[in-house]
Amino acid sequence: MANRSILYPLLVACLLVSSSFQSLHRHDGDSAMPFLPLDVDKSFHGCDQNLELKEAACSDKGLDTVPQNLSEDTEILVLSDNNITKLLNSSFEVYPLIKSLDITLNDVRAIESAAFYPLMGLMYLDLSFNPRLVLPATGVFMMSSQLSILDLAASYTTSLPNDILKWIPHLYYADLSFNQLSFINLSSCGMADTVDMRGNQLHNLTAKDFTFLCHTDTLDLRFNPIKSVDPDVIASLHVRSLMLGGYRFSDEVLANIILGISKSDIKLLKIEYCSVGAFPKGFFDPLSDSSLSVLEFNGNNLTSLHPLVFSNLTKVRNFRFSDNKLPIDEVQPDFFDGMNALKVLAINDNKVYSGNSLFYKS
Ligand SMILES: *[C@@H]1O[C@H](CO)[C@@H](O)[C@H](O)[C@H]1NC(C)=O
Ligand SMILES: *[C@@H]1O[C@H](CO)[C@@H](O)[C@H](O)[C@H]1NC(C)=O
Ligand SMILES: *[C@@H]1O[C@H](CO)[C@@H](O)[C@H](O)[C@H]1NC(C)=O
Ligand SMILES: *[C@@H]1O[C@H](CO)[C@@H](O)[C@H](O)[C@H]1NC(C)=O
Ligand SMILES: *[C@@H]1O[C@H](CO)[C@@H](O)[C@H](O)[C@H]1NC(C)=O
Ligand SMILES: *[C@@H]1O[C@H](CO)[C@@H](O)[C@H](O)[C@H]1NC(C)=O
Ligand SMILES: *[C@@H]1O[C@H](CO)[C@@H](O)[C@H](O)[C@H]1NC(C)=O
Repeated sequence: MANRSILYPLLVACLLVSSSFQSLHRHDGDSAMPFLPLDVDKSFHGCDQNLELKEAACSDKGLDTVPQNLSEDTEILVLSDNNITKLLNSSFEVYPLIKSLDITLNDVRAIESAAFYPLMGLMYLDLSFNPRLVLPATGVFMMSSQLSILDLAASYTTSLPNDILKWIPHLYYADLSFNQLSFINLSSCGMADTVDMRGNQLHNLTAKDFTFLCHTDTLDLRFNPIKSVDPDVIASLHVRSLMLGGYRFSDEVLANIILGISKSDIKLLKIEYCSVGAFPKGFFDPLSDSSLSVLEFNGNNLTSLHPLVFSNLTKVRNFRFSDNKLPIDEVQPDFFDGMNALKVLAINDNKVYSGNSLFYKS
C-alpha cells in the first residue's frame, strides 16, 4: 500500500514507543540490549525477542500458528509474513499486555470471536494483506476499547460486521481500503479521525447500501465505481472532509453529490479524476451559502467554463481545479465573481499554463 510508509511512523508516534524493529535483528556484541535469539536456526520457529522493549519479532518464520512460548509480558508482537490461518480464542491468552499486533501478509481465514478479548490494551492491529480474511459476524472488538489504528486493507473482504466499530470510542485510523466492500452499515460507531474506503466496490451511496454514522474527520471513498447517490445519505454524514473520484461519474451522480453537500456540514470536498468535461449550467447553484469552504476539483478534464460558473460558491475560501485541460487564457476573472470568501485559488497544471501558477486573491 502506498500509505504503509506513512502509517508506520504514525503508529510509532501513536504508541509512544521509539521502537526500531531493525534493532531486533542486530546480534552484534556491542548491543546493550538483552537479545535472546530463541532459535539459532532461523528456518525454524524461533522469534527474536527484545525483553527490555517487550518486543517479539516473528516475521517470515514459516509460522502457521501464533507461537505460545514467547515472553508473557510481550507488548509488541510482529507475526507478519507467515502462514497463520486461524486466530483462536486461546491464541493470545498468554500475552494479555499486547498493544501492537501485526499479522499482515498471512492467510488468516478464520477468527474466533473472542480471539482479541484478552488484549484489553490493544492499540494497533494490522490484518492487511490476508487475502481470504473473514471477520467474526459479531463482537470481534468488544474488548478493544483502546484500539487506535485498525488496518484491514487489501484483504478481499466482502463484508464488515455492522458492529465492528461499536466498542471503539476513538479510532485514529481505519484502513478498509482495497477490499471488495459493496455494502456498509456502520451505524454504531464512535469517532474515527480517518476512514479509508478507497478501492472497494461501493456502487450505491443510498440508504439501503451505505450507512456511515461515525464522527469522522476524513472519509475517503475514492476509487469506488459509484453509480447512484442519494443526496440525503451525503447530508447525513458526520464528516469534515469527503473524497470522491477515480471513476467516471454520471452527471446525475455529480449533481446528487453537490446537492448532498449543500445539505451537509461537510467543509472540504475533493472530487478528482471523475471526468466532468464541463460543468453543467447551474451545477454549483446548490452550494450558495453552504458550509463548504474547501473545494478541490482536480484532474477532471475540464475543457470549458461558463461565465459566472463559480459565482454561487460564496463560502468557498480555498478552491483548486488543477490538472485539467483548461486553456488558461480562457480563465477570466469574472468566473470568480461572487466568490466573496475566496482566499486561495490553484489552477496549476492545466493545458497551457504549467509550473507554479498558484496565485492568491484578495
Ligand atoms: C518455541 O516453540 C517453537 C516450536 O513451536 C520452537 O521452534 C522454539 O524453539 C521454541 N522457543 C523456545 C524459546 O522454546
Ligand atoms: C501455508 O499453509 C497451507 C496449508 O495450511 C499450505 O498449503 C501452504 O503450502 C503453506 N504455505 C507456506 C508458504 O508455507
Ligand atoms: C470463542 O469464544 C466465543 C465467545 O466467548 C464463544 O462463543 C465460542 O464458542 C468460542 N469458540 C470456541 C471454539 O471455544
Ligand atoms: C446498487 O443498486 C442497484 C439498484 O438498486 C442494484 O441493482 C445493485 O445490485 C446495487 N449494487 C450493489 C453493488 O450493491
Ligand atoms: C444497520 O445495522 C443496524 C444495527 O445492526 C440495523 O438496526 C439497521 O437496520 C441496519 N441498516 C441497514 C440499512 O441494513
Ligand atoms: C481525461 O482525458 C484523457 C485523454 O485525454 C483520458 O485518458 C482520461 O481517462 C480522462 N480522465 C478521466 C477521469 O476520464
Ligand atoms: C447563482 O448565481 C447566479 C449568478 O450570480 C445567480 O443569478 C443565482 O441566483 C445564484 N443561485 C443561487 C441559488 O443563489
